[in-house]
Amino acid sequence: MQILVFDTSCDETSVAVTSGRKVLSNVIYSQVLLHKKWGGVVPSIAKRAHEERIDFVVEEALRKSKIKDPSSQINYIAVTQGPGLAVALEVGIKKAKELSEKYQKKLIAVNHLEGHIYSAFVQNSKGNPQRDFKFPYLALIVSGGHTEFVIFKDHLSYEIIGSTLDDASGEALDKAAKLLGLGYPGGPVLERLAHDAGNIDSHNFPRPMLRSKDLNFSFSGLKTSFYYFLKNAKTSEVGPGQNIAKTSEVKLLASSFQEAVFDTLIKKTEMAIKQTSINRLIIGGGVIANMRLRKLMRGLVKKYQGEVFFPTYKYLTGDNAAMIGVVAGYKAEKKQFVKNFDELDRIPRMSL
Ligand code: KG4
Ligand code: ZN
Repeated sequence: MQILVFDTSCDETSVAVTSGRKVLSNVIYSQVLLHKKWGGVVPSIAKRAHEERIDFVVEEALRKSKIKDPSSQINYIAVTQGPGLAVALEVGIKKAKELSEKYQKKLIAVNHLEGHIYSAFVQNSKGNPQRDFKFPYLALIVSGGHTEFVIFKDHLSYEIIGSTLDDASGEALDKAAKLLGLGYPGGPVLERLAHDAGNIDSHNFPRPMLRSKDLNFSFSGLKTSFYYFLKNAKTSEVGPGQNIAKTSEVKLLASSFQEAVFDTLIKKTEMAIKQTSINRLIIGGGVIANMRLRKLMRGLVKKYQGEVFFPTYKYLTGDNAAMIGVVAGYKAEKKQFVKNFDELDRIPRMSL
């Protein structure tokens, strides 16, 4: 069973060919350079870039998986329906519909967040790594758009037990980096500066929502506190136009801010482990590319004799079609196909 898959939920145009959990090819055409100078994703630019690039990305994905005749070699077509940027999602859905008509294949619609959860089980074309499912899992999604705790009960079965009330964790990192004049996306830059700082607590920024017993997050207060700190500090070292990469104060600020976000994630995850009694964790989404956060999470599960699973390969932390295809494989087994073409529409705020 081979599936041709699309994900155009935000600023990466991605197409993959998957077979069960195996990825035969996965192509990601990133738009980061187009959006960088605006300090974030610009919807109209994203839409146009997806439209201009999608045919090329399909061709590449087919070429890399050595598929010459899609009508005989592809069984299904899958696409991310949401959540994401409406005008971006539309491009992938339109192309998926077009090809499913052309090749006469059934369509499978996938929730992008399911993809981030399944990224811990994606295999390369040789079937590695071999990681068996042992339900239930406590899943934490940490991306630019989401910060959510989910109980992953069984295949395609989820229960959301906490989420952010405002900004997502990746968004908080991106906004802090922007305030420091470090560009977009902020997470990777902050990680590098924090690593060089060699000190995690030179500034004590708030750890939001830790007093509440629920599993929700809120990062906008932390962002505001960071904003006022920078405003009051008036340090000539900080801000757009400075030679930031070199200043030690910026490194310390990056490190302390990142630590405030991660410390909050860790403490809430500890609460979630205690409340659910689940000590097998899955963490997915762009922010888990961060080595400091991985280390902290490994330390946490050790304390509870548990295990933590990250996306199996680095490219699976960010947005990609491969993880969507793996979910689609399970949906195909359960015959969960799109019944009526016209009913498949993007759902920008789709939840699990
Ligand atoms: O999953 P993703 O690629 O897209 C969404 O679905 O949102 O996540 C993007 C987010 C951005 O906020 C980015 O700053 C963050 O992931 N990110 C990181 C790192 N790499 C990407 N955050 C911290 N450390 C990183 N190394
Ligand atoms: Zn994502």
